[in-house]
Amino acid sequence: MIKLKGIVAAVATVSALGSSAVFAQDVEKVIEARQSFMQLYSFNLGLVGEMAKGNTEYDPEIAASAAQNLLALAKMNNSQMWPEGSSKADAGLDEMTRALPEMWSTFPKVLEKQDALTSALENFATVAGKDLDSLRGGMKAVGDGCKGCHTDFRAKKEEG
Ligand code: HEC
Repeated sequence: MIKLKGIVAAVATVSALGSSAVFAQDVEKVIEARQSFMQLYSFNLGLVGEMAKGNTEYDPEIAASAAQNLLALAKMNNSQMWPEGSSKADAGLDEMTRALPEMWSTFPKVLEKQDALTSALENFATVAGKDLDSLRGGMKAVGDGCKGCHTDFRAKKEEG
Protein backbone atom coordinates (compact mmCIF):
# COMPACT_ATOMS: atom_id res chain seq x y z
CA MET A 1 0.00 0.00 0.00
CA ILE A 2 2.75 2.41 1.01
CA LYS A 3 4.73 1.35 -2.03
CA LEU A 4 1.81 2.04 -4.35
CA LYS A 5 1.31 5.47 -2.88
CA GLY A 6 4.97 6.18 -3.53
CA ILE A 7 4.68 5.20 -7.17
CA VAL A 8 1.53 7.23 -7.67
CA ALA A 9 3.20 10.24 -6.08
CA ALA A 10 6.29 9.79 -8.26
CA VAL A 11 4.20 9.56 -11.43
CA ALA A 12 2.21 12.61 -10.44
CA THR A 13 5.41 14.56 -9.79
CA VAL A 14 6.94 13.61 -13.12
CA SER A 15 3.87 14.49 -15.12
CA ALA A 16 3.40 17.76 -13.26
CA LEU A 17 6.99 18.73 -13.99
CA GLY A 18 6.61 17.63 -17.58
CA SER A 19 3.57 19.73 -18.24
CA SER A 20 4.89 22.76 -16.39
CA ALA A 21 8.13 22.62 -18.38
CA VAL A 22 6.16 22.75 -21.63
CA PHE A 23 4.00 25.55 -20.28
CA ALA A 24 7.08 27.44 -19.09
CA GLN A 25 8.53 27.36 -22.59
CA ASP A 26 5.27 28.45 -24.18
CA VAL A 27 4.67 31.16 -21.67
CA GLU A 28 8.14 32.56 -22.24
CA LYS A 29 7.40 32.90 -25.96
CA VAL A 30 4.03 34.44 -25.30
CA ILE A 31 5.52 37.01 -22.92
CA GLU A 32 8.29 37.81 -25.40
CA ALA A 33 5.71 38.31 -28.15
CA ARG A 34 3.61 40.75 -26.14
CA GLN A 35 6.66 42.69 -24.98
CA SER A 36 7.82 42.92 -28.61
CA PHE A 37 4.37 44.12 -29.53
CA MET A 38 4.68 46.88 -26.92
CA GLN A 39 8.07 47.78 -28.40
CA LEU A 40 6.36 48.36 -31.76
CA TYR A 41 4.00 50.81 -30.07
CA SER A 42 6.97 52.45 -28.43
CA PHE A 43 9.00 52.75 -31.64
CA ASN A 44 6.19 54.38 -33.59
CA LEU A 45 5.23 56.66 -30.74
CA GLY A 46 8.88 57.65 -30.47
CA LEU A 47 8.93 58.84 -34.09
CA VAL A 48 6.08 61.28 -33.55
CA GLY A 49 7.14 62.09 -30.00
CA GLU A 50 10.52 63.38 -31.17
CA MET A 51 8.77 65.57 -33.75
CA ALA A 52 6.36 66.91 -31.14
CA LYS A 53 9.27 67.84 -28.89
CA GLY A 54 11.09 69.53 -31.76
CA ASN A 55 14.00 67.08 -31.60
CA THR A 56 13.45 65.95 -35.19
CA GLU A 57 11.99 67.90 -38.08
CA TYR A 58 8.27 67.46 -38.65
CA ASP A 59 7.70 65.19 -41.62
CA PRO A 60 4.01 64.75 -42.50
CA GLU A 61 4.53 61.42 -44.28
CA ILE A 62 6.52 59.83 -41.49
CA ALA A 63 4.09 61.24 -38.92
CA ALA A 64 1.05 59.97 -40.80
CA SER A 65 2.48 56.49 -41.27
CA ALA A 66 3.61 56.20 -37.65
CA ALA A 67 0.09 57.18 -36.58
CA GLN A 68 -1.42 54.63 -38.97
CA ASN A 69 0.93 51.97 -37.63
CA LEU A 70 -0.10 52.75 -34.06
CA LEU A 71 -3.76 52.46 -34.98
CA ALA A 72 -3.16 49.20 -36.85
CA LEU A 73 -1.34 47.81 -33.80
CA ALA A 74 -4.14 48.86 -31.47
CA LYS A 75 -6.63 47.03 -33.70
CA MET A 76 -4.77 43.72 -33.63
CA ASN A 77 -6.49 40.92 -31.80
CA ASN A 78 -3.79 39.85 -29.36
CA SER A 79 -5.95 37.91 -26.93
CA GLN A 80 -3.69 34.85 -27.31
CA MET A 81 -0.73 36.83 -25.99
CA TRP A 82 -2.38 37.21 -22.59
CA PRO A 83 -3.22 33.69 -21.35
CA GLU A 84 -4.39 33.29 -17.79
CA GLY A 85 -1.51 32.16 -15.58
CA SER A 86 1.04 34.49 -17.22
CA SER A 87 1.09 37.36 -14.74
CA LYS A 88 3.96 38.54 -12.60
CA ALA A 89 2.30 36.84 -9.61
CA ASP A 90 2.35 33.40 -11.25
CA ALA A 91 5.03 30.93 -10.24
CA GLY A 92 8.43 31.58 -11.78
CA LEU A 93 7.34 34.62 -13.84
CA ASP A 94 8.21 37.47 -11.50
CA GLU A 95 11.42 38.30 -13.39
CA MET A 96 9.95 37.72 -16.82
CA THR A 97 6.87 39.90 -16.95
CA ARG A 98 5.45 43.09 -15.50
CA ALA A 99 1.83 42.16 -16.28
CA LEU A 100 -0.17 42.48 -13.05
CA PRO A 101 -2.68 39.78 -12.04
CA GLU A 102 -5.41 42.48 -11.99
CA MET A 103 -5.49 42.21 -15.78
CA TRP A 104 -7.28 38.91 -15.31
CA SER A 105 -8.95 39.38 -11.92
CA THR A 106 -10.72 42.60 -13.00
CA PHE A 107 -11.36 41.56 -16.60
CA PRO A 108 -12.81 43.15 -18.79
CA LYS A 109 -11.51 46.42 -17.32
CA VAL A 110 -8.32 46.12 -19.31
CA LEU A 111 -10.39 46.15 -22.50
CA GLU A 112 -11.77 49.57 -21.54
CA LYS A 113 -8.18 50.82 -21.39
CA GLN A 114 -7.51 49.29 -24.76
CA ASP A 115 -10.61 50.99 -26.22
CA ALA A 116 -9.53 54.36 -24.80
CA LEU A 117 -6.20 54.06 -26.59
CA THR A 118 -7.85 52.95 -29.83
CA SER A 119 -10.19 55.99 -29.80
CA ALA A 120 -7.27 58.34 -29.19
CA LEU A 121 -5.39 56.73 -32.08
CA GLU A 122 -8.37 56.96 -34.40
CA ASN A 123 -8.27 60.71 -33.92
CA PHE A 124 -4.48 60.85 -34.03
CA ALA A 125 -4.37 59.04 -37.38
CA THR A 126 -6.50 61.82 -38.92
CA VAL A 127 -4.42 64.73 -37.54
CA ALA A 128 -0.78 63.56 -37.35
CA GLY A 129 -0.05 64.21 -41.04
CA LYS A 130 -1.68 67.67 -41.18
CA ASP A 131 0.87 69.87 -39.46
CA LEU A 132 2.99 69.99 -36.33
CA ASP A 133 0.38 71.74 -34.18
CA SER A 134 -2.26 69.14 -35.03
CA LEU A 135 0.19 66.36 -34.26
CA ARG A 136 1.00 67.94 -30.91
CA GLY A 137 -2.71 68.37 -30.19
CA GLY A 138 -3.43 64.68 -30.69
CA MET A 139 -0.40 63.31 -28.85
CA LYS A 140 -1.50 63.82 -25.27
CA ALA A 141 -4.56 61.59 -25.54
CA VAL A 142 -2.39 58.87 -27.07
CA GLY A 143 0.18 59.08 -24.28
CA ASP A 144 -2.63 59.03 -21.75
CA GLY A 145 -4.01 55.93 -23.47
CA CYS A 146 -0.74 54.08 -22.92
CA LYS A 147 -0.35 55.36 -19.37
CA GLY A 148 -3.95 54.62 -18.44
CA CYS A 149 -3.33 50.93 -18.90
CA HIS A 150 0.20 50.86 -17.50
CA THR A 151 -0.87 52.57 -14.27
CA ASP A 152 -3.39 49.86 -13.46
CA PHE A 153 -2.01 46.78 -15.14
CA ARG A 154 1.76 47.04 -15.43
CA ALA A 155 4.09 46.73 -12.46
CA LYS A 156 6.55 49.55 -11.92
CA LYS A 157 10.14 48.88 -12.96
CA GLU A 158 12.15 47.52 -10.10
CA GLU A 159 14.99 49.73 -8.93
CA GLY A 160 18.58 48.77 -9.73
C1 HEC B 1 -4.42 47.59 -22.45
C2 HEC B 1 -3.22 47.78 -21.70
C3 HEC B 1 -2.02 48.45 -22.33
C4 HEC B 1 -1.99 49.47 -23.25
C5 HEC B 1 -3.15 50.24 -23.85
C6 HEC B 1 -0.59 49.73 -23.52
N1 HEC B 1 0.20 48.88 -22.80
FE1 HEC B 1 2.24 48.82 -22.84
N2 HEC B 1 2.20 47.25 -21.53
C7 HEC B 1 1.08 46.72 -20.94
C8 HEC B 1 1.45 45.61 -20.07
C9 HEC B 1 0.51 44.76 -19.25
C10 HEC B 1 2.85 45.51 -20.15
C11 HEC B 1 3.75 44.46 -19.47
C12 HEC B 1 3.87 43.25 -20.41
C13 HEC B 1 4.77 42.16 -19.87
O1 HEC B 1 5.83 42.48 -19.26
O2 HEC B 1 4.42 40.98 -20.05
C14 HEC B 1 3.29 46.56 -21.08
C15 HEC B 1 4.62 46.79 -21.42
C16 HEC B 1 5.07 47.84 -22.21
C17 HEC B 1 6.46 48.11 -22.52
C18 HEC B 1 7.66 47.30 -22.04
C19 HEC B 1 7.90 46.18 -23.08
C20 HEC B 1 9.08 45.28 -22.75
O3 HEC B 1 9.96 45.13 -23.60
O4 HEC B 1 9.10 44.71 -21.64
C21 HEC B 1 6.48 49.22 -23.33
C22 HEC B 1 7.70 49.89 -23.93
C23 HEC B 1 5.10 49.62 -23.53
N3 HEC B 1 4.26 48.77 -22.83
C24 HEC B 1 4.71 50.68 -24.34
C25 HEC B 1 3.39 51.03 -24.61
C26 HEC B 1 2.98 52.15 -25.43
C27 HEC B 1 3.94 53.12 -26.12
C28 HEC B 1 1.63 52.15 -25.45
C29 HEC B 1 0.69 53.11 -26.15
C30 HEC B 1 0.89 53.40 -27.55
C31 HEC B 1 1.18 51.03 -24.64
N4 HEC B 1 2.28 50.38 -24.13
C32 HEC B 1 -0.14 50.70 -24.41
C33 HEC B 1 -0.22 47.13 -21.14
C34 HEC B 1 -0.64 48.10 -22.05
